[in-house]
Amino acid sequence: MLLKNKTAVITGCNRGIGFSILETYLKNGANVIACVRNKSDLFRDKIDLFSKKFEAKVNVVKFNLENEEEIEKGFLEIKKISPKIDILVNNAGINQMSLFQMTTLKTFRSVFDVNFFSIVSLTQKILKIIVKKNNSKIINIASNAADLSSQGRAAYAPSKAALLSFTKVLSKEMGSYSINVNAIAPGLVNTDMMKNTPQKAIEEALSMTPLKKAAEPIDVANVALFLASDQANHISGETIYVTGGM
Ligand code: NAI
Repeated sequence: MLLKNKTAVITGCNRGIGFSILETYLKNGANVIACVRNKSDLFRDKIDLFSKKFEAKVNVVKFNLENEEEIEKGFLEIKKISPKIDILVNNAGINQMSLFQMTTLKTFRSVFDVNFFSIVSLTQKILKIIVKKNNSKIINIASNAADLSSQGRAAYAPSKAALLSFTKVLSKEMGSYSINVNAIAPGLVNTDMMKNTPQKAIEEALSMTPLKKAAEPIDVANVALFLASDQANHISGETIYVTGGM
């Protein structure tokens, strides 16, 4: 039970990597405030099942990360549920692929809004209620796309590169409060996001992956568990790559 008595906020919980982090944290004793864009009966049923199975407290808060007013409302709801937060996982993100000349400024802005600015905004708010001097953790889910800078990634790759840079800066500013700030950079992960990626891009990525397979969401969730736990108390400003060796 690596996260006993900890309260975590996780964004993008309804599926993929976020859902796996949610399950892993609950299994490890955390109470979780699960942030989702849309509430669904199916998700509610899964949450009910988890809270019984793991005897954990799960609250669902709905807000769209594209909308600053909704983020503010979501934060106020989070604060009402728990005035003290130990762990923030900025997981939600959107994928986008198109050649630069085919990518409108509007698309750039919307990719950055979700993958970068919403994280800046939510983190700024959560920092007001995060527990200080007790090894609280902020974990940003970036991508190795930030380094690969492949064709068609003119918006997505820089949005994730900005997140990696932000992680490092924040780790320096938060050090004196004993708040650890780290990033995880996955390669291909078997989620809806991967399913919506063109086959050619998947094949290219797999050909560069020594382990010759995509990660499963749990492979990323296990690293998010380690980084959130006391086992990572002296790790900050780092990016852990979960890429099968890519
Ligand atoms: P996914 O598409 O299955 O899930 C994304 C989650 O983000 C969903 O829960 C979705 O509702 C949420 N989300 C998206 N836009 C939102 C908005 N405007 N407001 C609120 N929530 C929103 O994708 P996956 O694979 O689980 O991705 C999770 C993170 O991992 C993302 O940040 C992604 O960029 C990153 N990643 C994924 C990789 C992959 O191959 N699947 C590779 C590298 C990084």
